[in-house]
Amino acid sequence: MFDLIVKGGTLPDGRVADIGITGATITAIGNLAESDAGEVIDASGDLVSPPFVDPHFHLDATLSYGTPRINASGTLLEGIGLWGELKQIVTQEEMVTRALAYCDWAASMGLLAIRSHVDTCDDRLLGVAAMLEVRDKVKPYIDLQLVAFPQDGFYRDPTARDNTIRALDMGVDVVGGIPHFERTMADGAASVRELCELAAARGLQVDMHCDETDDPHSRHIETLACEAQRLGLGGRVAGSHLTSMHSMDNYYVSKLLPLMAEAGVAAIPNPLINIMLQGRHDTFPKRRGLTRVKEMQAQGITVGWGQDCVLDPWYSLGTADMLDVAFMGLHVGQMSHPDEMRRCFDMVTTQNARILGLEGYGLQVGAQASLVVLDAGDPIEALRLRPARLAVVSKGRVIARTARQDAALTLPGRPGTIRRRHPQGG
Ligand code: FE2
Repeated sequence: MFDLIVKGGTLPDGRVADIGITGATITAIGNLAESDAGEVIDASGDLVSPPFVDPHFHLDATLSYGTPRINASGTLLEGIGLWGELKQIVTQEEMVTRALAYCDWAASMGLLAIRSHVDTCDDRLLGVAAMLEVRDKVKPYIDLQLVAFPQDGFYRDPTARDNTIRALDMGVDVVGGIPHFERTMADGAASVRELCELAAARGLQVDMHCDETDDPHSRHIETLACEAQRLGLGGRVAGSHLTSMHSMDNYYVSKLLPLMAEAGVAAIPNPLINIMLQGRHDTFPKRRGLTRVKEMQAQGITVGWGQDCVLDPWYSLGTADMLDVAFMGLHVGQMSHPDEMRRCFDMVTTQNARILGLEGYGLQVGAQASLVVLDAGDPIEALRLRPARLAVVSKGRVIARTARQDAALTLPGRPGTIRRRHPQGG
């Protein structure tokens, strides 16, 4: 007897199977009798996927767009300045309210695990306190991992070092950094070293904003890979953005990528934000700014797509839909082969789960019973349509449902109901 059966869905690998859920665990996959279930979700013809995972977000800033003003230049640096203004006037309660509203959006889209950077450059650490509160509140349905992020520079900001350590003491999960924003390249490299040592001493993961610049000489990823290797942090370190790699010398990159692979450092490009913020100083041709995704994957480096921002000082749009993120990444990275498109779907699910180190993730017996049913035949169609999440199950509970979004066409002589699904499926 199961509490819930998700019936007849197509899994991302193409298998058609029923999924039996007992409590918060997947307890069977195969042909299951509906009469054995307390509740049945009919997923016949629909894609059933493990939940979406976002490895890079800023919950403390989300849904603040326009407060106290918009980012007129559209640059990363004006965004950082604007966030600095907002930090002066924001309250802990406001941050909690905005973050919880965003988490509702995320849950409705099947986004059930998020790694969020939280700014530690505030002597009051209001954002840290707010996000720890949010982590507790959403725990029943979203796994939220927090990164101690010294936005204004671990050394450049006079109290950031102490405050980042305080944030870790308060229970923040992951060590962050921003080496390209320190005063000099040398300070940046030193910050990477000290932050990795902090993580090693505490047994924590590392995820740094790294080389988020168009400057091809920004090479902190090299130091990050070296420190990961030296301290034995392989598999627990990620470099976020890595946009400078887009503009680096090809010979240098041919040395760098094997170093990253050898050190077990993962990469998290954020395509919506990278394509929006990078290249702003260029005339034409204008650089895309996205890091070398396919080239890293060819070297065996784990790469996951991150979202980064929704309606905040850096980005005026955003939906909490990881399929939007993958869709942009697919285009900017020119990942149009069917194998590459399927890989893009895998990046916002399984690969991101691997970067976060999520336990019990996936659609297999014994895994946590979290999944999403999509109005699509397969992962490629999901990327094309970015369709309705017909049902979202988190830890055994159905937490959201959305109706199919078929159009009623009133054109004379043409069929009445329009579905954008491929007629042959997939
Ligand atoms: Fe970020």
